[in-house]
Amino acid sequence: MSDVKYMSLDGKVVPAADARIHILSPAVKYATNVFEGIRGYWNQARNEMFLFRLTEHLERMRFSMKVMRFAERFTVERMRDAILELIRANGTREDTYVRLYAFVDEPDGEMTATGPVRMAIAATPRGGRGRGNKGAHCAVSSWARIADHSLPPRIKCVANYNNSRLAWMQAKADGYDNVILLTAAGKVSEGPGACVVLVRDGVPITPSLTSDILESVTRRTLIEIFPETFDRAVVERDVGRSELYAAEEAFFCGTGHEILPIFSIDRHPVGSGELGHLTMAVQKRYFSLVRGESDDHAEWRTPVYGG
Ligand SMILES: Cc1ncc(COP(=O)(O)O)c(C=O)c1O
Repeated sequence: MSDVKYMSLDGKVVPAADARIHILSPAVKYATNVFEGIRGYWNQARNEMFLFRLTEHLERMRFSMKVMRFAERFTVERMRDAILELIRANGTREDTYVRLYAFVDEPDGEMTATGPVRMAIAATPRGGRGRGNKGAHCAVSSWARIADHSLPPRIKCVANYNNSRLAWMQAKADGYDNVILLTAAGKVSEGPGACVVLVRDGVPITPSLTSDILESVTRRTLIEIFPETFDRAVVERDVGRSELYAAEEAFFCGTGHEILPIFSIDRHPVGSGELGHLTMAVQKRYFSLVRGESDDHAEWRTPVYGG
């Protein structure tokens, strides 16, 4: 944990050391806990931090609480106000990663406890990965992605990330640095914390929303900006494993991963095995948007300080 002064608990700014929960809370015992990861980008020229697509993240948070049958679902306004208040209290003026949690915290509560629902927020400095030549060498995992009819990847439930962990740890033990999971039916799903886009014959392709993926805000952003920026649409469909080996470019997209090129998959180089032209162009557009380098899509950025 980095050294931020404050965290937010139940909508109040508190010293970070005081943000504690009961060890026997269902959030700990049963992972009755949902979350969001949101990035704030510092724009030096405008002396402002922009939170990217905050409302969309908070709406997904409410959907996660609904699916988990939490007794209370915080409003978008309440969550937004608490996040803004926290960042302002810390006075952070650099790239920031916001983690927002909603969890059931009845001391020694049952697996089926639905409340009280509490909210915790951490906002810690974390630089964006930025553009450039770094890329991932991926394995296709032997662990299958959890399925929508067992533990739905469509929501950000903390428990889901143990499926991601198993796959990612195995890949690391095998000498890769990232991983792509397949659905139980053997179609390409997503990475442990990001969606996948591949490019074939110049066409961007991404697994459909029924491929046991999170409904990613970044994925949606790319689907919206591809036609206006690159004059072509992203195709959403089932993707076969061997198509990964046929792709001329591939990248992960997500709030945390941003636009992360994939250089090899199962040791097959993707295209030339280096940063591809389209991936580079997507990075450029994405980073310009999230940082607010122009007024383009201003509706996607929430200013933290000035307004
Ligand atoms: C499993 C998974 N898939 C995809 C994503 C990308 O989603 P988003 O673009 O909304 O951050 C994330 C990150 O939150 C994730 O955890």
